[in-house]
Order: sequence, then structure tokens, then C-alpha cells
Amino acid sequence: MALEWDAASYEALADPMTRWGEEFLGGIALRGDEVVVDAGCGTGRVTELLLGRLPEGRVVAVDASREMVEAAGRRFAGEGRVRVLRQDLLELDIGEEADVIFSTATFHWIPDHARLFRALARNLKPGGTLAAQCGGAGNISRVGRALRGVMEEEPFRGYFEGWEDTKHYPAPEEERALLQESGFVEVEARLLEKPTPFAGEEALARYLEAVILRAHLMRLPRGMRRPFAQAVAGRMAKEEGLEIDYVRLNMLARKKEADDE
Ligand SMILES: C[S@@+](CC[C@H](N)C(=O)[O-])C[C@H]1O[C@@H](n2cnc3c(N)ncnc32)[C@H](O)[C@@H]1O
Repeated sequence: MALEWDAASYEALADPMTRWGEEFLGGIALRGDEVVVDAGCGTGRVTELLLGRLPEGRVVAVDASREMVEAAGRRFAGEGRVRVLRQDLLELDIGEEADVIFSTATFHWIPDHARLFRALARNLKPGGTLAAQCGGAGNISRVGRALRGVMEEEPFRGYFEGWEDTKHYPAPEEERALLQESGFVEVEARLLEKPTPFAGEEALARYLEAVILRAHLMRLPRGMRRPFAQAVAGRMAKEEGLEIDYVRLNMLARKKEADDE
């Protein structure tokens, strides 16, 4: 199972992800009556926008995190058009074939994309669409540099010895090849730069803690998590500036049908 999240902090601080999710969704053609999976739905902020595009359709909102699934469950309580499931996307089984699988800000948390794309394809109708946005090549390299520096410092270094962050920000050609091998055709993949400024060091630290550093913070005792995020924000402010250099990778593909070659 994937790692745990602090759903309340994510809900409060996920404005950049919601904004990109909304933009990305705006570029996807939907009739309005489809069954759409939101793969890695988080607390459901983007899922809600997706539901707004489906007046006669349904959403299956899937996430592996207990806190996120509980938050999404509360958000959609009494909404018969949304089913919320706690599942690992690598073993996805929604019990029906979806018309579309949609996903934002999730795939870079999952190292094995060959296995991920095969699992997604199994839950799509032939001819169904995969539309996903995640971190792509070059994503948050400024944070990465500051982070590596802080991980080498006391009192944190002992907690990271022999550990490697498994987050992966793929290049478009890498994903194109994997999608084609996993049964998709008409594959498109391209990078978009989304530089995101923060008002000050403290705002950056809170954001890093809630969103970017989840895997790192799980290595640390609770009392060291905030100081770690503050140390990364402090190093960024000093050496890199208060802007996160986000790079998104947009992917669009169609699941092969019998008459596709
Ligand atoms: C940054 S949040 C994105 C949430 C939402 N899609 C958005 O754009 O705001 C990433 C989500 O992916 C989920 N996730 C990561 N790995 C997963 C996996 N293997 N299976 C299911 N969900 C996963 C996390 O639990 C988290 O809720």
C-alpha cells in the first residue's frame, strides 16, 4: 500500500494541484454520461470538478490512503454518482469497465509504470481513454537539491541512510513507450512547466510538509517532521529562491480495440 497522508493539510494546501487539475480537465473531451475513474483522488477536490463535467455520468474515486479515502467519502456522502474505493492502483479492480481513467498529481508516487498502465488498461473498455497528468522530467529539481543537502545534515542524516526516494519523474518518450507496450494506441505525452511561487519561507515549509515531503517525513519521528520541512524551506530560500519549479507531464491515450492493429 502507498504511504499515508495528512488529508486535512492536503485539502487546505492543494491549490496548485487543483488549479492544474482543472486546466487539464478542461482540455479533455467528455460527453457527460461516461463512467470515469479518478485514479489517486486524494480528498476529492479535483474529483468534484470532474463530477461537474458528468451530469449524466458517474465517478469511481480511488485512492490507497486511508485518510484520503475517508475525506473523499465525507465529501461525496449522499452523492449516488460517486463510488469511493480504497485500493492500490497497481492492483486496481473497480468491478466494471470504465469509459475513461483520469488522474492528476499521482503517477509519480508510483515507481512501476509498466505495471500501473497494465492495471489501468484492465479496468478500461476497449477504445476507452486514459488522461493523466503527473510530475515529469525535471520536476521540482530546486526542491530536490535543497532536500539532498538537508538529508546530509544532523540531526536528520541517520534517518535516511541506505534509503532512496522512489518518486520518479518520467520523460514523455519513456511513458509513450510504456503505454504502447501496455495496450494503448494514439499515445500523446508532453511536458509543461508550472513554476509556482510562495509568499515566504513559512508558507513554503507548510506546503512542503503537506505535499512534497510525505515519503521523507515518514522516515522521521513526529517531532522532527516540521523542523525538517523548515530546514528544506530555509535552504531553498537561501540557495534556490521561493519558487518551486514544477514540471507536469500530460498523457493522453486510447485503449486498443480488436480492430486496431
Ligand atoms: C498529491 S495527491 C493528488 C490528489 C488529487 N488527484 C489532486 O490532484 O489533488 C496523490 C494521491 O495519490 C495517492 N496514491 C499514491 N500512490 C497510490 C497508489 N499506488 N494507489 C492509489 N493511490 C495512490 C495518494 O494516496 C494521494 O492521495
